[in-house]
Amino acid sequence: GGTGDTGGTKTLTVGTEPAFAPFEFKGTNGELQGFSIDLMNAIAKSAGFTVNFQSLPFDGLIPALQGKTIDAAISSMTITKERSQTVDFSRPYFKAGLAIAVRSDNQDITNFVSLENKRIAVQIGTTGAEEAKKVAGAKISSFDSAPLALQELKNGNVDAVINDAPVTLYAIKNANLSGIKVVGQLLTEEFYGIATAKNSPNLALINQGIETILGDNTYAQIYKKWFNA
Ligand code: ARG
Repeated sequence: GGTGDTGGTKTLTVGTEPAFAPFEFKGTNGELQGFSIDLMNAIAKSAGFTVNFQSLPFDGLIPALQGKTIDAAISSMTITKERSQTVDFSRPYFKAGLAIAVRSDNQDITNFVSLENKRIAVQIGTTGAEEAKKVAGAKISSFDSAPLALQELKNGNVDAVINDAPVTLYAIKNANLSGIKVVGQLLTEEFYGIATAKNSPNLALINQGIETILGDNTYAQIYKKWFNA
């Protein structure tokens, strides 16, 4: 298996949508970085394979897994029942959840119910987009990336964004998105997994790598680097 068997170390092509800081994003020189990137490299190191990252749109990751043009995807992808019908997931490696963001001067949106009939921006193909569909009367605008959805909110063109809480909070703190705040409770509890094609032989290798780095302090170090905790 793997697209890059060389007789020596196996190489896995791993897809990611790199506009989701602090998980996967591009630095000033275009280099991939973030929690997921460090994690994937550490998993590979401990399980004995190398990684070739490939940037793809988020809604292109599952089709690429199914078409076998990539071997795995690490992209803060929530393990869901629906996705599990078409791809396999590793054991969970991160707990997150969806948050509502509004402009700082907004007083009337405080929870899920108060989103009714509002304009909501989301990233295409995400659990945030699915959640927005459940809001009665919502006018949903879909974007290729989370930063574009948040920018739309900052510009005042929508009333709210539904997105993964750690990413929205990080953007407010670090990405010049002052004027935006997170309100209310998390709407969901979600767990991220690394996805592969159904019945991929690489999944066992990936799970083995996750087990190892959870047990030997590597995961904790990477967590601390990106979440400062
Ligand atoms: N956790 C959400 C989901 O699985 C959003 C993930 C978006 N990831 C990204 N790299 N843009 O749908």
